Amino acid sequence: MRRQTFAAIFAAALYCLFVGPTFAADQSTIVIYGATGKLGGKIATEALNRGHKVIGVSRDPSTLNGAHANLSAVAGDVTNVNSMLEIIVGADVVVIAVAGIGADNTPKNSIVNQAALTFIQAARGLGASAPRVIQIGGGTTLRRNGVLGLESANLEEGSSLHGRMWGHWVALQNYRATTDIRWTVLTPPPSALIPGERTGVYRLGTDELLLTEDGAVAPLSEEDLAAVVIDEVENARSIGQRITAAY
Ligand SMILES: NC(=O)c1ccc[n+]([C@@H]2O[C@H](COP(=O)([O-])OP(=O)(O)OC[C@H]3O[C@@H](n4cnc5c(N)ncnc54)[C@H](OP(=O)(O)O)[C@@H]3O)[C@@H](O)[C@H]2O)c1
Repeated sequence: MRRQTFAAIFAAALYCLFVGPTFAADQSTIVIYGATGKLGGKIATEALNRGHKVIGVSRDPSTLNGAHANLSAVAGDVTNVNSMLEIIVGADVVVIAVAGIGADNTPKNSIVNQAALTFIQAARGLGASAPRVIQIGGGTTLRRNGVLGLESANLEEGSSLHGRMWGHWVALQNYRATTDIRWTVLTPPPSALIPGERTGVYRLGTDELLLTEDGAVAPLSEEDLAAVVIDEVENARSIGQRITAAY
């Protein structure tokens, strides 16, 4: 009887050693700025479905819908370094999927650029223990035959669209200027990111638009964009790079 008990405990210990910790080791803690938004919400769902812990950040966390054992909601402002430092310490990855204009609609003051600058400052404050960041970019920062989408878009300077779209470009340049930050900018295809199905099958690119055989902008579903983000969380294949994804 005692031998049987010992054997059962030994088997359970072996299980914990080789099965339990394997899952725990694969589980990441992901902070998501924009978890109340269209894309951030889908990224949070994808992360939770894959067993990760999600800290959803919002200026008003009571608006963060859904109860899940691995989901917590915190109040935070993506443009405030002290607030970000408190939230991201101990996390593995920070996802930034925010949108908004800033003072004077300038690209520099856009929420996406202020978010990038805030993350860079916060990560430098944390040093070697800082999490990675994956920020969602803007499709017009991709190139077609080498020509920047923003150049051909003719956005009126001072307009909110100009500030937001060029803000993505300035944010990307700010990440590119760093050598001490583990960053990835994932840029969805312009005007071709649509609500749809999650297939988990997509192509990755870098600065050039991904095209269909007919030369059209290759689309991607929002659900698969979320899958690309969490694939990058798990595989860390594109650190220090801007990537795009499409079918
Ligand atoms: N094809 C493309 O290139 C493409 C397509 C779609 C989206 N995008 C980009 O993806 C990003 C997300 O787009 P979306 O449509 O998902 O946005 P959205 O639905 O409008 O959500 C915006 C999010 O930003 C958060 N936010 C704004 N200011 C904040 C602040 N100061 N601190 C913390 N959070 C803040 C909001 O959170 P709270 O209000 O709860 O604080 C909200 O969750 C945007 O940058 C957009 O340009 C690109």
